[in-house]
Amino acid sequence: QYDSPLKGKHVVVTAGPTREKIDGVRFISNYSSGKMGFALAEAAKERGAKVTLITGPVHLQTPEGVERLDVENACEMYAEAKRIYHSCSVFIAAAAVADYRPDTVYDGKLKKQNVEMQLRMVRNPDILAEFGAVKQSGQLAVGFALETDDGVENARKKLREKNLDLIACNTFDRKTSGFEVDTNVLTLIDRNLEETALPLMRKTEAARQLLDYIERLMDSEQ
Ligand code: C5P
Repeated sequence: QYDSPLKGKHVVVTAGPTREKIDGVRFISNYSSGKMGFALAEAAKERGAKVTLITGPVHLQTPEGVERLDVENACEMYAEAKRIYHSCSVFIAAAAVADYRPDTVYDGKLKKQNVEMQLRMVRNPDILAEFGAVKQSGQLAVGFALETDDGVENARKKLREKNLDLIACNTFDRKTSGFEVDTNVLTLIDRNLEETALPLMRKTEAARQLLDYIERLMDSEQ
């Protein structure tokens, strides 16, 4: 093993979807499988980092040696992340966090009625943006942008608005990249707006390339 700048560093990865409860038996969620986040956690561990993986509900095995914190919804993910904002060197947000949650959660099962039903939604905390706002020099914030339209342009905007060091713009076409599948097509954009388009590859390989880029950013800071 070469001497990775990640060795001995604390890397936090968020992964998977979140579930936002409507009532005791129903929720709102998305198709995220957690594969990209788990691949990143495993790759960071291989490079000698101390890895904490904060994950929503997924069907994946915990990579060996990785500390896993299971959460269900965005507020829980935020609470776990917040406790380790200060101690991590790299924060990688690969989770597909729900932007909204129902403002009232009913205890039991909501009964159907013969009229339309309206669900009022409130905003969830933005876990990555919050880290970007409080991070100290030397801490790196890395995000993903899954876009169906104007991907790179939106990713650049998120990089700026969330004060990120690196963003991976994720093409979404359901067969080769995005949610659930094993492969991905990423365009990496760093804080200097330098763009690197990666070809179609397995998520495990995409994770390694993303970590290579993070290592270069860490080296350039020294
Ligand atoms: O704004 P958008 O949801 O597209 O941003 C995507 C990035 O922000 C991802 O890295 C995602 O994990 C992170 N995010 C977050 N908390 C949210 C929403 C998004 O950490 N509530």
